Amino acid sequence: MQMDQQDILRVNRSREQARDSYNRLSRWYDMVGGQSEKRYRSEGLRLLDVQPGERVLEIGYGTGHVIVALARRVGGEGRVYGIDISDGMLGVATARVSEAGLEDRVELIRGDAMELPYDEDSLDAVFMSFTLELFDNPGIPVVLGQCLRVLKPGGRMVVVSMSACGTEGTVMKLYKWAHRNIPSLFDCRPIYARKALEDAGFHVVDDELMTMSELPVEVVLAEKTGG
Ligand SMILES: C[S@@+](CC[C@H](N)C(=O)[O-])C[C@H]1O[C@@H](n2cnc3c(N)ncnc32)[C@H](O)[C@@H]1O
Repeated sequence: MQMDQQDILRVNRSREQARDSYNRLSRWYDMVGGQSEKRYRSEGLRLLDVQPGERVLEIGYGTGHVIVALARRVGGEGRVYGIDISDGMLGVATARVSEAGLEDRVELIRGDAMELPYDEDSLDAVFMSFTLELFDNPGIPVVLGQCLRVLKPGGRMVVVSMSACGTEGTVMKLYKWAHRNIPSLFDCRPIYARKALEDAGFHVVDDELMTMSELPVEVVLAEKTGG
């Protein structure tokens, strides 16, 4: 299969515009689509296979469903970190974590994944769903490079992402039209997630190609070599 990064649509909005858009969306996000992505997030969590006591980061935690699932898995001895650019999402996710009574093991911050404020070689695993594909082409290797830096040698990373793999059907053509014309609502765009991880220096361990209303979704497990 030809995988040409030139095929990937560019992202024209600034980080401030992304933040403002997710601030507006945060209260409605679960109603307008966040829930339909649950199946793919669950598959990503299954591949990441988080263990009690681990230190795990989620990038782009949105309304916090995965943060809660990760916090239950790491248990009282583990730690879950989350970074998201939106204050609105920080508010919604914080409320979800306290409702679940898991504040003791969760640290959520507002920040940009292009500059992760975590120590080098400090984390066992990183999870990212429907977020890597929001970064423009030059930003994707920067974010993945940051993930490599903060992961311990042998640390795992899962990316769940809308994918450019496979043949482009009518639904994908319509989606791309929507992305070009209504980018505030259809801001994800298909990328080659596995290839992006390999290009960044990760070793890919497993990948699955799923579909969401006929749109391909990659779920990729990769690791930082040297463990
Ligand atoms: C499409 S939502 C996905 C949310 C969640 N991961 C899920 O699967 O439901 C993308 C999330 O990434 C966050 N985000 C966008 N740009 C970001 C950046 N530069 N750094 C950190 N988070 C970002 C948004 O605020 C939003 O919460």
